[in-house]
Amino acid sequence: MVKNQKIIKMSGISFSYSEESPILKDLDFEFFKGDKIGIIAPNGSGKTTLFHLMMGLLKPTSGSVEIFGKPMETEQDFADIRHRVGLLFQDADDQLFCPTVLEDVAFGPLNMGKSKKEAIEISKRTLDFLGLSDFENRITFKLSGGEKKLVSLATVLSMEPEVLLLDEPLTGLDTKTRSTITRALTEMNISYIIISHNIEFLEATTSKTVTMRDGKIYADQQVHVHIHDHAHVHGNVPHKH
Ligand SMILES: Nc1ncnc2c1ncn2[C@@H]1O[C@H](COP(=O)(O)OP(=O)(O)OP(=O)(O)O)[C@@H](O)[C@H]1O
Ligand SMILES: [Mg+2]
Repeated sequence: MVKNQKIIKMSGISFSYSEESPILKDLDFEFFKGDKIGIIAPNGSGKTTLFHLMMGLLKPTSGSVEIFGKPMETEQDFADIRHRVGLLFQDADDQLFCPTVLEDVAFGPLNMGKSKKEAIEISKRTLDFLGLSDFENRITFKLSGGEKKLVSLATVLSMEPEVLLLDEPLTGLDTKTRSTITRALTEMNISYIIISHNIEFLEATTSKTVTMRDGKIYADQQVHVHIHDHAHVHGNVPHKH
């Protein structure tokens, strides 16, 4: 994977849903290929809003968004990159809209021009990867909350995106399924940003966490205690880290 290719650049982004309360204020953010970033911040701090601005689902009141080095100025600019950036919505009901699970998971690949056979192959492989092989013919709207979240993730992964934006991927999932997701993410050679309130999950899956406050993004000040092994070139010479 080539590092240092800029995937997302947001400059001077401000946004408000209504005039009296700006949610994002002159926010700057850069995201590079190979980055695995966690966002941990209080409810209502603008995390979901940030993802929706990145995908062009919301328009900033001021500022600019660049994706894969290209300024996003029109709806078509965003349409051109959406299959390369997979957004997992916080609410699975925003993601799923087909009658059955297989149709929902195959929708993305079909829409990207894959043949029906290819789309079904990719979808089955993706469902299998997430331990959902038995779900193909399940009725989407009858799934439980956690099942919907997992199937939503399958609809995102089946598009084989280069980048993942995951908005609270663990919501509603049991311990075993959380471990499956954690392992799947650490195994995938893919760049991603994960919004989560679960610090242990972010520690396991990301290399850096940021937080949001007063409409801006800051490096997370929290100290992550971790154990690591490293080789010493100093031999027995006393030294400090
Ligand atoms: N469609 C909307 N119309 C008006 N206000 C909204 C809308 N969506 C979100 N907001 C407000 O914008 C603020 C930021 O919302 P957002 O969903 O981005 O927060 P969040 O950090 O994702 O929170 P959470 O951790 O609860 O998911 C909140 O105060 C919310 O009430
Ligand atoms: Mg949110």
